[in-house]
Amino acid sequence: MNAIELLKDDHDKVERLFQKVKATEDSEHKELFLKIKAELDAHTHIEEKIFYPRLKEEEQLEDITLEGVEEHHQAKMFLRELANLSEDSEKFEPKLKVLMEDITHHVQEEEGEMFPKVEKVIGKDELEKLGERMEEEKRNFQKSQTASSGK
Ligand SMILES: [Fe+2]
Ligand SMILES: [Fe+2]
Repeated sequence: MNAIELLKDDHDKVERLFQKVKATEDSEHKELFLKIKAELDAHTHIEEKIFYPRLKEEEQLEDITLEGVEEHHQAKMFLRELANLSEDSEKFEPKLKVLMEDITHHVQEEEGEMFPKVEKVIGKDELEKLGERMEEEKRNFQKSQTASSGK
């Protein structure tokens, strides 16, 4: 699969989980959060390991990629904090809400600004190959996560 299609599929999956959070009671949010976290952990991993390093080789993509890395850094901080909060913490819901707002902003920037530029600079064949490597990396990452959580 083309790298950009793969990343957009991930974005859509996360957006559907956000919609579920908005449509359900607080009591269901911890479980949904764990799904969101698993998706985002794998997604940011393949972006940072394979996609972003390739983008950074292109001068006109460097700034937007560096900004993306910082947004990932913030998102990871929030994910970690949320994972460590007790379920009845008054901070859980507001923190989850801010995380979702931040991710939505980040996704809009990637899809609205970064990806169109990428498509101009990197050819179809290479995007296809990058996508294949990212799919494989994602599978391996998810396998290692499941193994380390003892499931
Ligand atoms: Fe993304
Ligand atoms: Fe990203």
